[in-house]
Amino acid sequence: MPRVNIFTLIHKGLRTLLYETASCLQQTDFTHDAETEAALDHLREALFLFEEHARHEDMHILPAVAAYEPSVADCFGQEHDTDAQLAAELSATADTFFLLPDAAARTEAGTALNVAFAEFVVFNLKHMACEERLLNELLWRYYSDTEILAIQQRIVLSQEPWTADLYWRWMLQGNNHPDTLRWFRAVAALAPAAVLEQLLRKAATVLPPTRAVALHQALAAAPVAA
Ligand SMILES: [Fe+2]
Repeated sequence: MPRVNIFTLIHKGLRTLLYETASCLQQTDFTHDAETEAALDHLREALFLFEEHARHEDMHILPAVAAYEPSVADCFGQEHDTDAQLAAELSATADTFFLLPDAAARTEAGTALNVAFAEFVVFNLKHMACEERLLNELLWRYYSDTEILAIQQRIVLSQEPWTADLYWRWMLQGNNHPDTLRWFRAVAALAPAAVLEQLLRKAATVLPPTRAVALHQALAAAPVAA
């Protein structure tokens, strides 16, 4: 029986966010104001959601690991500090971009921003893969699936609705049908009906129509996992 993996849904969403942001930055003409503003907004959303994600892990997951393996928890906490430093540099670039004097300076800064974001992508891809390997191994060793799901539930309940809405978009875009169906069934089992309705409305705007219909049909046939 596979163990509960609380990283799957969110990390697949966050990886999709990284890929799409990198692609957007690569396609941006940084001498064009509207394109640049849209790309910088995309970048700010990515930085915000990664910062929030690290904060949730620091508050809810690393303490659970630290109870048994403090040095491992400390190591991941330090990686979050490094990540925050990379994000702060990217954020400062975004916030000062329109102070640049001319097209040549903007083009040069856009190129540098692409390189810096690629470093952020590489760091986070490695970091998330490491978490899925090492943190899962420790969570599975020291906690039951019920206890791990309780940690996840505390994270979900600590999110502001508007922040959750941002994560939902990327989780919907980044996950396949079986993972999404498991997620929606868990929401149906644990959350008020209004939350599932919100999630279904979001799915209708994000997923291709065939995926959204398949989700509705599967939920109608079996709203909660057997
Ligand atoms: Fe992390």
